[in-house]
Amino acid sequence: MGIVLGIESSCDETAAAIVADDRTIVAQAIASQDDAHAPYGGVVPEIAARAHAERLAPMIEAVMREAGVSLGDLDAVAATAGPGLIGGVMVGLVSAKALAMAADVPLMAINHLEGHALSPRLADPDLAFPYALLLVSGGHCQILRVDGVGRYRRLATTIDDALGEAFDKTAKILGLGFPGGPAVERLARDGNPQAVPLPRPLKGSAEAHFSFAGLKSAVLRAHATGQHPPADIAASFQQAAIECVIDRLGHSLGRMAPVPSLVVAGGVAANAAVRSALEGLAAKHGMRFSAPPPALCTDNAAMIAWAGQERLAIGAQADPLDVAARPRWPL
Ligand code: KG4
Ligand code: ZN
Repeated sequence: MGIVLGIESSCDETAAAIVADDRTIVAQAIASQDDAHAPYGGVVPEIAARAHAERLAPMIEAVMREAGVSLGDLDAVAATAGPGLIGGVMVGLVSAKALAMAADVPLMAINHLEGHALSPRLADPDLAFPYALLLVSGGHCQILRVDGVGRYRRLATTIDDALGEAFDKTAKILGLGFPGGPAVERLARDGNPQAVPLPRPLKGSAEAHFSFAGLKSAVLRAHATGQHPPADIAASFQQAAIECVIDRLGHSLGRMAPVPSLVVAGGVAANAAVRSALEGLAAKHGMRFSAPPPALCTDNAAMIAWAGQERLAIGAQADPLDVAARPRWPL
């Protein structure tokens, strides 16, 4: 049985995981830094890098101990090499290089977006290539056609904010704290999604792309009137955002060669309302719908280890030990 150690440190979660080639997550740990960043209302890169540096080594040790795995048992070490906050990425990648060298196994420098893109296959053994993927996180909002490992074609992206960013900014406006997505989702359950008139940017546009900046500004203006309960604003924002996503995705699906499955991944894929709207869209298009469990949607190391497994399975080459961390790295 092949065993891969995965490391994730590109933003504000420090994570390590051991994943087997039969899709078993043998052991994993995630330490969120929410408390450290909350006073600033967003992730502070220097604080993040220092926290990763403090936490990662003991975490890797603990995960390996829990899995009953020693260096000699590993078949590869996979780490996020970008895109992300460069200090944090470097902490994880340098650790992975040292471990790969010590264990004399391949180093897999994983694109964080590839980790998200392949994560649905970790949870769903029946999910075969090709599939249409909505990748929605704090930094990215893309529609991709995934034809295989390393074979990604981007069909749409955002011209301004990512979807998770729009949730986070809405949360900030409503004073819900950071990170905002889960808080907006919770509050939205008590609100009326039709109560606050908000725009649906680019809905119906002939262009493929997303835009959320105008929606966020409209949320700010609606809140400033003082006329709407925060729950109504949260619910109306979420509804508008979902309608945009469904419209844009419908646009892309209508223009691509048919694929059997519609898949969602990334932090916003943890949102139950988003998931159920996508499930409806998949049914309308006669597609199978697949979404990882919420814990695999937000940043984690199991998806990075799994991307390493996927690469091993196709016989991909190891990355050289001098591979660089990349703050920007389009998929
Ligand atoms: O994938 P992820 O953990 O990190 C990035 O790679 O960016 O995504 C984090 C994003 C944040 O913007 C967070 O607010 C959003 O995902 N998010 C959610 C939910 N859970 C996380 N957005 C809406 N509803 C949620 N339940
Ligand atoms: Zn992510």
